[in-house]
Amino acid sequence: MKYSLTTGAAAVALLGFAPSSPTDFALGNGSSPSCDTSSRVYCGGNWEGVVSKLDYIQDMGFDAIWISPIVQNVEGSTTEGEAYHGYWPQNINSLNSNFGSADDLKNLSTSLHDRGMYLMVDVVVNHVVANPTNTTNVSPETFDYSLLQPFGSQSSFHTQCFISDYNNQTNVEQCWLGDYGLPLLDLDTENSTTVDTMYTWIKDLVQSYGVDGLRIDTAKHIRQDFWPGFVSSAGVYSVGEILIGNVTYAAPYTDVLDSVLDYPTYYAVYDAFTNGTSGNMSAIAEMVTQAQDQYNHSLFYAGSFIENQDNPRIQSTVTDQAVSLEIRSCLDWSSKIAMTWPFINDGIPILYYGQEQGYAGGNDPNNLSGSPASTPITNPSSPHVTTLNTARKQAIASNSSFLTTSLKFISQSDSSALAVSKPPMLTLLTNAGNSSYGMYSGGETVVDVLTCNTYTAGSDGSLSVKTSGGEPMVLMPATALSEKGTLCASVAKGTGSDGQGSSSKSGAERLEVGRMVVLGRFWEG
Ligand SMILES: *[C@@H]1O[C@H](CO)[C@@H](O)[C@H](O)[C@H]1NC(C)=O
Ligand SMILES: *[C@@H]1O[C@H](CO)[C@@H](O)[C@H](O)[C@H]1NC(C)=O
Ligand SMILES: *[C@@H]1O[C@H](CO)[C@@H](O)[C@H](O)[C@H]1NC(C)=O
Ligand SMILES: *[C@@H]1O[C@H](CO)[C@@H](O)[C@H](O)[C@H]1NC(C)=O
Ligand SMILES: *[C@@H]1O[C@H](CO)[C@@H](O)[C@H](O)[C@H]1NC(C)=O
Ligand SMILES: *[C@@H]1O[C@H](CO)[C@@H](O)[C@H](O)[C@H]1NC(C)=O
Ligand SMILES: *[C@@H]1O[C@H](CO)[C@@H](O)[C@H](O)[C@H]1NC(C)=O
Ligand SMILES: *[C@@H]1O[C@H](CO)[C@@H](O)[C@H](O)[C@H]1NC(C)=O
Ligand SMILES: *[C@@H]1O[C@H](CO)[C@@H](O)[C@H](O)[C@H]1NC(C)=O
Ligand SMILES: *[C@@H]1O[C@H](CO)[C@@H](O)[C@H](O)[C@H]1NC(C)=O
Ligand SMILES: *[C@@H]1O[C@H](CO)[C@@H](O)[C@H](O)[C@H]1NC(C)=O
Ligand SMILES: *[C@@H]1O[C@H](CO)[C@@H](O)[C@H](O)[C@H]1NC(C)=O
Repeated sequence: MKYSLTTGAAAVALLGFAPSSPTDFALGNGSSPSCDTSSRVYCGGNWEGVVSKLDYIQDMGFDAIWISPIVQNVEGSTTEGEAYHGYWPQNINSLNSNFGSADDLKNLSTSLHDRGMYLMVDVVVNHVVANPTNTTNVSPETFDYSLLQPFGSQSSFHTQCFISDYNNQTNVEQCWLGDYGLPLLDLDTENSTTVDTMYTWIKDLVQSYGVDGLRIDTAKHIRQDFWPGFVSSAGVYSVGEILIGNVTYAAPYTDVLDSVLDYPTYYAVYDAFTNGTSGNMSAIAEMVTQAQDQYNHSLFYAGSFIENQDNPRIQSTVTDQAVSLEIRSCLDWSSKIAMTWPFINDGIPILYYGQEQGYAGGNDPNNLSGSPASTPITNPSSPHVTTLNTARKQAIASNSSFLTTSLKFISQSDSSALAVSKPPMLTLLTNAGNSSYGMYSGGETVVDVLTCNTYTAGSDGSLSVKTSGGEPMVLMPATALSEKGTLCASVAKGTGSDGQGSSSKSGAERLEVGRMVVLGRFWEG
């Protein structure tokens, strides 16, 4: 078995990543660290600790993890605390010893592969950080370049200027992120020596640690034609961070990377579900349709998410309001419904760790877990996540076109409703709370896989259902569910296998083979 997300895309493409930052995920002995993330320091978590949590992640139905950048970062405290997140590289040829040793990382990789899971690593190519301490008023001439391995001299970097005009792409690519207090030295990715260094580095990194995929940080800060060579050197799936709510801007990056993290849809979904009935549901349909039309490979390889390390968690936005109990419970369903989104659409579902527990961290650095401010405000949603992953696996198993057919929106007269058709799944979402909605067509027994309640379509093929207490519904025909499966088996009418069966932890017995064939053809064609 070749552990590559491009040749084995289906495994990850469908079931999603469970990203985890070793910084605050788990200590080597499996305990969860307790530290105040507002102090912006390393919390003690490490790669060994992630190994101890793989059962937990896999049991929710995920088959890949995405971990923080692995290379050595600036040491000590800066004007913005320690480099606990890994986004301030200093020596790209050394590992970040705060997260463990090379053997620990290889062990994580091997542990994942042994259970048929994949490793996606976050990489930073755009910049490095020079000084270990306060750099205010320190000019580029005085930086200690010897720390910046393997670059080592000022000539490897763009001339210092901080980004001042996001409408000027040259400015975005060649000026620097950060500020005088913490300048992020912008690598001269027009310099062929630097380019070759980066291409060789990524090839070695992927091979040394058995990496299956890359999440590429700040990808829009490097010229687009840098990326094809980088991606082909890596030889694995690559998804770029293009942090912007504009499909037209993001789309060209899907020609040079395998895909992008789908921020345009993220913003639309976030806004639609965090503003009561004022949220604009048709803006979601508009954005998704644009992305389907403009992204290379449509949305099939895009990362689909509703939380990450750079944005406030969805439940923090809702708690920021002075909420009464009534509104609070109203907002609980809102975040649960929004959480449903990444699992029922065309992209690769990505779950940010802690989301499944209802963490509510807000602005930096509270959107990381561990601080009092990010204590869950709802009951854990992990059963919801597990169910959604299982439903998606069964949808794939029951329809070989599921992965490669774009979802369609079914227009609604009610502006608070969104109906998503991705056969055999039909999903109803609403931001209106516990109102009633009805529509379906099928002519057979239909199961809400979140409750296992069944519904029978009328003779004209129509179906009226009423949501219960504003809860989301994910409807699938009973024939698409397996009698031998773990999902609503008692009402299932299908005889196929269940992707979530007890044998799913064995690589050899996994059910992804058929899906890989589908995706393999897609990639070749
Ligand atoms: C795990 O290690 C941490 C940090 O050294 C320690 O505080 C904790 O008690 C340990 N937990 C167990 C179960 O050994
Ligand atoms: C950094 O250095 C500058 C100039 O020496 C000083 O004004 C500033 O207070 C320092 N900042 C921190 C966070 O130490
Ligand atoms: C890999 O990690 C597992 C779980 O922490 C541990 O039992 C095992 O000894 C480690 N193996 C190596 C080679 O470090
Ligand atoms: C390109 O970068 C290398 C080091 O990476 C440096 O030696 C060389 O001077 C740079 N070339 C130019 C034209 O800046
Ligand atoms: C765009 O930014 C570059 C780099 O800062 C600058 O040289 C150029 O003048 C800018 N172009 C315009 C039109 O402002
Ligand atoms: C979106 O990006 C495109 C391409 O960069 C640009 O032409 C357009 O003005 C942007 N739209 C908005 C609303 O900023
Ligand atoms: C779409 O991506 C493929 C590689 O996956 C590439 O070969 C092709 O050129 C891209 N299409 C465009 C229009 O750039
Ligand atoms: C929420 O809805 C209100 C009322 O329509 C509107 O004024 C406000 O801009 C919306 N906020 C967001 C974040 O969309
Ligand atoms: C909702 O979004 C759609 C599509 O982007 C837009 O045409 C419409 O004007 C928006 N409605 C409101 C009330 O903002
Ligand atoms: C947390 O979210 C804010 C946006 O509210 C963002 O600016 C910040 O970078 C995030 N924190 C981290 C550690 O990424
Ligand atoms: C399978 O998916 C295709 C494409 O969406 C759809 O046309 C077909 O009706 C689906 N079949 C079933 C049994 O759901
Ligand atoms: C609707 O939700 C509100 C707020 O949670 C709750 O008080 C009310 O009982 C619910 N009504 C129905 C019919 O479920």
